Amino acid sequence: MGVVTLTLNNQLISAREGQSLLEVIRENGVDLPTLCHLDGLSERGGCRLCVVEAEGTSRLLAACVTPVQEGMNIRTHTERLVRYRKMLVELLLAERTHVCSVCAVNGRCELQALAARLGIDHVRYEPLHPDLPVDASHGRFVLDHNRCILCGRCVRACDEVEGAHTLDFMGRGVQSRIIVDLDQPWGSSRSCTGCGKCVQVCPTGAIVARENIAGGVEKRPDFLLRILEGRQKRIWRW
Ligand code: SF4
Ligand code: SF4
Ligand code: FES
Repeated sequence: MGVVTLTLNNQLISAREGQSLLEVIRENGVDLPTLCHLDGLSERGGCRLCVVEAEGTSRLLAACVTPVQEGMNIRTHTERLVRYRKMLVELLLAERTHVCSVCAVNGRCELQALAARLGIDHVRYEPLHPDLPVDASHGRFVLDHNRCILCGRCVRACDEVEGAHTLDFMGRGVQSRIIVDLDQPWGSSRSCTGCGKCVQVCPTGAIVARENIAGGVEKRPDFLLRILEGRQKRIWRW
């Protein structure tokens, strides 16, 4: 694999051909926020939090879906980018109903942590507060659409790692939501294996296990990499 050279925040760095900008940026110790990206899953490029500036284009590039190219000159934390990311998180918070004080993952939520990191102490936009249902029909898991940020991590984990493809998206824009099979109660799904991968990868309190609610159990989104590595190395035998 070839090597490319690029500039990252005024530093000359090298990367492997085919790597994404996000991989390279993180490998070089720059802390770039992400929400829809998760190591082990395909990229969706949906949340736009990983946007960076590249010299020669006024378009902001989503680092997770942009491959490195020779000679790129990338900036990750300009004033415009920091302002933009803050605005994006505020819009996410305004789009549904995120009341952290009564959330099962309060204190362990990626959205909440990111908002704190970006210095968001209030939301400047009028909250939409849509009246969305909570699906508590499954014996072990609960899906609260009010807390969903439509990152699609659950959909990809269910499809790409578990192979069940129980979860999917329905609708467009602010009307989008996660559905189970052909939009049926989760408890009646015949494709769901009950593996809990969607629970672990969901960055918010939108999908939780009942034990998350009762005992404040941490989610472990990094477990996907262990599963994938184990499969690749054929560590497990049945
Ligand atoms: S529990 Fe497993 S199979 Fe069921 S929806 Fe979640 S990821 Fe898919
Ligand atoms: S349920 Fe969770 S993982 Fe799935 S799209 Fe919503 S926030 Fe993302
Ligand atoms: S992490 Fe790149 S767009 Fe979401």
